[in-house]
Amino acid sequence: MNEDAIARALHVLGVVLWIGGVAFVTTVLLPAVRRMKDPEERVAFFEAIEGRFAWQARATTLLVGATGFYLTDVWDLWYRFLDPSFWWMHAMVAVWVVFSVMLFVAEPLFLHRWFLRSAEMRPEATFRLIQRMHWVLLAISLVTVVGATAGSHGLMF
Ligand code: HEM
Repeated sequence: MNEDAIARALHVLGVVLWIGGVAFVTTVLLPAVRRMKDPEERVAFFEAIEGRFAWQARATTLLVGATGFYLTDVWDLWYRFLDPSFWWMHAMVAVWVVFSVMLFVAEPLFLHRWFLRSAEMRPEATFRLIQRMHWVLLAISLVTVVGATAGSHGLMF
């Protein structure tokens, strides 16, 4: 059906913008920021860029979640959540839940305040921790992308 093909295309578009952005922040932005000498400049630069990306990530998270649940429902794929060989379905939902909680709950409630305070007191340790967390999230996301693409095109795990 046309609607399903469009939903799948929007799902992948959202994933590309979202996970691609996470990859950019992790592999390009954070290493560049960590090389800056002035701690104040470091925080201001990171905030300006990551702040803009946070809105893109929020919008794409909503798009990916909406299209993902739509596809699961119209194709009646709920049974897959009871079958461990469809681990990549669980992984998609898990990645989505982790990012949604970070972007919509933790960040506005306390994470942003913690970052500003911690970056002022311990800039090196704070950016090291943030980079490590980004690597973990990026790695899990990429494994999920590979698993979901291969799995939804017929690879049996
Ligand atoms: C609420 C969360 C999500 C749900 C319910 C969901 C659901 C789905 C469904 C039903 C499909 C089609 C499966 C099939 O054709 O057999 C799919 C495909 C896919 N999803 Fe998700 N997804 C979610 C989040 C994510 C996330 C966070 C990622 C990336 C990290 C992702 C990446 C993909 C990819 C790469 C495909 C394969 C597209 C293709 O090759 O055609 N999804 N998803």
